[in-house]
This record gives sequence, structure tokens and C-alpha cells, in this order.
Amino acid sequence: MKIFIDTANIERIEEVNSWGILDGVTTNPSLIAKEGTDLRTCVKRISEIVDGPISAEAMSMDAEGMVKEGRELASIHGNINVKLPMCLESLKATKVLSSEGIDVNMTLIFSPQQALLAAKAGARYVSPFVGRLDDIGQTGTDTLAQIVNVFYNYDFGTEIIAASIRHPVHVLEAAEFGCDIATIPYDVLVKMVSHPKTDEGIAKFLADYNKSKN
Ligand code: E4P
Repeated sequence: MKIFIDTANIERIEEVNSWGILDGVTTNPSLIAKEGTDLRTCVKRISEIVDGPISAEAMSMDAEGMVKEGRELASIHGNINVKLPMCLESLKATKVLSSEGIDVNMTLIFSPQQALLAAKAGARYVSPFVGRLDDIGQTGTDTLAQIVNVFYNYDFGTEIIAASIRHPVHVLEAAEFGCDIATIPYDVLVKMVSHPKTDEGIAKFLADYNKSKN
């Protein structure tokens, strides 16, 4: 499973990139606003750090505007894909952008039917939001599993990004289902690194090593 980081924070992207496990980056308007930057500057800087797909969200609400914005965003760097929110207008825009070789990440996916339509329109990625389904009392990973199962039956060439990840168990389940990608917030990535038994083991080995030196 490919691992993307879900952030617009440059220091965190640099840090996680140095771990050697990073395959790409997703941003969204809320993440960009949190960093007090603008989309263009932010994704340009990210493209200088990470050699992999970077999602940048278009904000137009009509297909024509989405296509125009999509072309502009894609022209910033070859690794940039255009995030569009799932709706009728974005399906139309996806058809146009994908026919021009511009990758679309269809975002705000909450059902297998939405994912199916996005794939049919030519989206390179679909992003089911797991945590936001949990927030309203549904089981987000059930929807994720359904999408993985549906896509397994066909040959869409669309990759599934498990998004709105809130904790390491979401990541585990995405990997168990065979999801293509998980886009993970920094704090969840940090939690995935450690285990109390690892810390305990390191402390014991260090203590024994220091004893044996004397
Ligand atoms: C996906 O690309 C989104 O940026 C993101 O995963 C949204 O997550 P949230 O529900 O934690 O805001």
C-alpha cells in the first residue's frame, strides 16, 4: 500500500519524506488555510520535496471552471493531480481533464456508487472519507471495503485512497482490504512507528549493553 501524508505543513512533509516511506501528498482547502499559505505556493514547494503524486483542490463549482482551474494546477508541476468534489459537474470535468492526461482525485466520496461513477468518468483516484463516516455513526471502513470489492471486479485503472484517517486501525484495515493508498495525518504516522514493547526492548538492550561494556 502506498502511503501519502495528508497535510499542507512543509516541515512535516520534509520530515516524513526523510523517513523513506512517503509516496505522495494530499492537501485540501482546510489544510492549506491552517498553514496560512496559498494553494499555488504550497503545492509548488511540496513538489520540490516529494517525488510522487500531490493533490491540489480546485474550488470552482461548475465543470467549465473546474477544467480551467485543473489545467492551471496541473501546469504547476507534472506530479500534481486535481482534486474535485464528487458531484455532477465534477464528473463532467473529470471526463475532460482525464482525456487531456490530467489526473483527477475525486474527493468527498462517501458511497461505493459515487466511487463507481467517478471511476467511470476517468478519475485516477477516488478518496473515500473513512473518519467522517464514523463521525455520523456509520462504519467508514465498511464503505472502504465495499469500494475495494467493487473495483476488484473491473479494470478501471482508478486507485483508491483511504482518506479521513483518524487512527492506526484505519490504516491497518485499509491495508488488509488491499486498498491502493492511505493518506495519513502526521500524528497517525507517528503513532504507527512506535510500540511500547519496542521501547521496552530498546531500553533493555541499551542497559545490558552498557553493563557488558564495564
Ligand atoms: C483527503 O484527501 C482529505 O484531505 C482528508 O483526508 C480529510 O480528512 P478529515 O476528515 O480528517 O478532514
